[in-house]
Amino acid sequence: MLRRSFISFFLIVSLVIAPSGFANTVSGSNGVVTSRSQLASDVGVEILRQGGNAVDAAVATAFALAVTYPSAGNIGGGGFMVIRLDDGTVVTQDHREKAPGTAFPDMFLDDAGNVDRRKSLYSAQAAGVPGSVAGLLDALERYGSMDREQVIAPAIKLAEEGFPLSADMAQDFERVLNSMRDYPASMAVFSNNGQPWQAGELWVQKDLAETLKRISAEGRDGFYKGKTADLLIAEMQRLDGMISHEDLAGYNAEWREPIKGSYRGYDIWSMPPPSSGGALVVQMMNMLEAYDVKSMGWGSAEAIHLMVEAQRRAYADRAEHMGDPDFYPVPLDMLTDKNYARQRFLDFNPDQASRSADIGSGSWPMESMETTHFSVMDKNGISVALTTTLNLGYGNRIVVPGAGFLLNNEMDDFSAKPNEPNAYGLLGDEANKIEPGKRMLSSMTPTIVTRDGEPVLVTGSPGGSTIINTVFQVMLNVLDHEMGIEDAVASPRIHHQWQPDMIRIEPGALQDGAQQRLEAMGHIDLAPMGYGLGDANSILMQNGVMHATSDPRSDGGASAY
Ligand code: DON
Repeated sequence: MLRRSFISFFLIVSLVIAPSGFANTVSGSNGVVTSRSQLASDVGVEILRQGGNAVDAAVATAFALAVTYPSAGNIGGGGFMVIRLDDGTVVTQDHREKAPGTAFPDMFLDDAGNVDRRKSLYSAQAAGVPGSVAGLLDALERYGSMDREQVIAPAIKLAEEGFPLSADMAQDFERVLNSMRDYPASMAVFSNNGQPWQAGELWVQKDLAETLKRISAEGRDGFYKGKTADLLIAEMQRLDGMISHEDLAGYNAEWREPIKGSYRGYDIWSMPPPSSGGALVVQMMNMLEAYDVKSMGWGSAEAIHLMVEAQRRAYADRAEHMGDPDFYPVPLDMLTDKNYARQRFLDFNPDQASRSADIGSGSWPMESMETTHFSVMDKNGISVALTTTLNLGYGNRIVVPGAGFLLNNEMDDFSAKPNEPNAYGLLGDEANKIEPGKRMLSSMTPTIVTRDGEPVLVTGSPGGSTIINTVFQVMLNVLDHEMGIEDAVASPRIHHQWQPDMIRIEPGALQDGAQQRLEAMGHIDLAPMGYGLGDANSILMQNGVMHATSDPRSDGGASAY
């Protein structure tokens, strides 16, 4: 009771400074979808109503997000999905972008050997070969029950007929408009003849509708070959980009063994490399399992210290060991092993902060970061956790002329130079260097938690390097602190990523006195931030009812029936 009122108090305080949005929590016994866009969640639930399963709904929601939430929803980017099937099997699909065939390790270094961030983030070379269309269609064919045409139709309608822009989106378009001035096709979409779009105006995307129609009619060839591919390659050639027809035609999504961990009787299923997310959350949960997190109390100095020390060690391992497993031998068994976690945590001192080694200097992103996560569950317990991205909001800002979609800037997720921080301040080395056809390391962490084979929690988040810690905390809030889904997602969070050696703290994430206690333990840099760490649209199954919430940190929406 005390805990609830404590959290509610801080939620009220936090909501006052929240950028937009409110927690939208709905419950249903037939199916639920929660995403960054109410329109897209409604599309997903409509597909469930029409008799589709959670995979059909997820694919429909993902295509709809490419229309209604274009800063991160995409067909020009990539993502990961974790699917729990109705027989309890869990599979994961990697539709991460790949480096083009002509990419090379030093491609983002200037003459002085420094990383040219403008090039790695805002150029045609910043784009990896898009994976979303291949991944979504492959998932639909394997595990969906509906036709491609049926699940893409709602997205086509939204693009063709348009929808009134929310104030939130109109403002966001205006914010990025200057960065698009060199690209007429981007300006044509994101401005109203050069002027900012206003809230409430009908936003129509005709070129995107035509591209979606080609995908609907021709399947993956409607994107990776033919007219769409020709338009994309023409823009690559105009802007000196690297993606070729061969890269597009040769792209494939991969089905990978999930990362599996356990925590106090629950099973955790998450994304394996090329995402670092699954291995890191399992490693951190393993480190915490020996401690009575619940009795330490949510937001207490003891609990935060424990979490931060786990984060510090896990993120250090990320930098050293993780990259595309098709190119580099990632020691996954070690990283997810409970004994390894015990060893790695032997130097944990409950009263004293450790120091991150003094190598490299991380920096925090100045840019808006946008990725998006949505969760789906149907009445048979089929569950989908899908996180997708263009990397930074609106990717490299280049809309493919005539095709109406944005390209990603995922190439920046590679380590452009050993131990040089990327846009998220993340370090990396050999394991994540640029190589042709390789997938860049990710932090995206779509995750499903089950108990005795039954689905309990479906979660994930955007937030670059902070994603893993958001998922970690949503899990702790549900599994240890026994919160309902709205509190588990809305509760303020903290973040530490080894380098820089700093704890980022949302308002209200610490109990009274915890800050002083953490400083006394030797945590050197406690950095307050606004209420905006992640956007964890999540589902919790309780007593046969599915509860879905959209994160109050942004303007999403959940839908149920
Ligand atoms: O894959 C990754 O880890 C990043 N490209 C994700 C970017 C991201 O989450 C930006 N968002 N908020």
